[in-house]
Amino acid sequence: MGKKVVVLGTGGTIAGRSERGSDNVGYKAGEVGVQSLLDAIAPLKSALQGREMVAEQVAQVDSKDMGFAVWSTLAQRCAEHLQDSEVDAVVITHGTDTLEETAFFLEQVLPPALLQAKPLVMTCAMRPASALTPDGPQNVLDAVAVALDSAARGVLVVCAGAVHSARLVQKSYTYRVDAFDSGDAGPLALVEEARVRWLGQPVHVAPAFSLERLSLPHAAWPRVELVMNYAGASGAMVRSLVYSDANVPPLRGLVVAGTGNGTLHVDLEAALLEVQRQGVRVVRASRCARGQVVAGEAPAALPHSQGLSPVKARIALMLALMA
Ligand code: SIN
Repeated sequence: MGKKVVVLGTGGTIAGRSERGSDNVGYKAGEVGVQSLLDAIAPLKSALQGREMVAEQVAQVDSKDMGFAVWSTLAQRCAEHLQDSEVDAVVITHGTDTLEETAFFLEQVLPPALLQAKPLVMTCAMRPASALTPDGPQNVLDAVAVALDSAARGVLVVCAGAVHSARLVQKSYTYRVDAFDSGDAGPLALVEEARVRWLGQPVHVAPAFSLERLSLPHAAWPRVELVMNYAGASGAMVRSLVYSDANVPPLRGLVVAGTGNGTLHVDLEAALLEVQRQGVRVVRASRCARGQVVAGEAPAALPHSQGLSPVKARIALMLALMA
């Protein structure tokens, strides 16, 4: 047994504040420091079972503004803490809006050996810290219960009493406090009165990726954009992304959120094939919230996203282009 649980704060609604307690939408995210958030949760002391809690403010952002610089720092801090033999687990507080992206990114870049040894648990809130009934404190308590559970491994997301894997978790609701789900698979576990009831096995399948590459300056991260198929779609958006002005880094990759089983309007598909021939890597995902693109018998002209949602497929493609 180690002696510490480290909590890394990155902002979000969990650290948000509004003028009125009844206002659950007109608040500013990323206002309350992570140490203050933790200090306000009295039962944390007993939840830690004698361990020390160490808080560190890595960022203070609304997660809609999350970017490569914070991701790099966060990954480095997670790696350092997970390597420390005094640390049992790392918990991250994060905004809900891009939480699934950060979770997937961390799972992809942190050394598998570290994540197989200790859990990295992310949590969040849908109501600001100033709300009449904030959901953040219970989510933090649940995250700590998961972090200290002997079966917990890899990057896990805890929200509203449910535990999700980084690969499958997805924000599905704009307002409900149980905002996340894991699609067809359902949650990995439930947290009930500080006890974790596992429904599945945490599996870590991340490829090894050298963390040093993340210290590249922002401009060196490959530019990968997302486009969508819809009624009346054309190739214009794709062409404007490729032939954009000289101040923007060249486009290296495109993920397309296709309709249904990753299908594409004939004009959009033609434009994507055209840019693929010019060296832009193109990946086909689906805009459907459930299921994944199922490959047919014939080889597809545009590779599919291996079950990843469009936003996660974009991260996977970026990292593949960096590797
Ligand atoms: C954010 O993602 O930072 C704001 C929204 C939230 O945390 O629910």
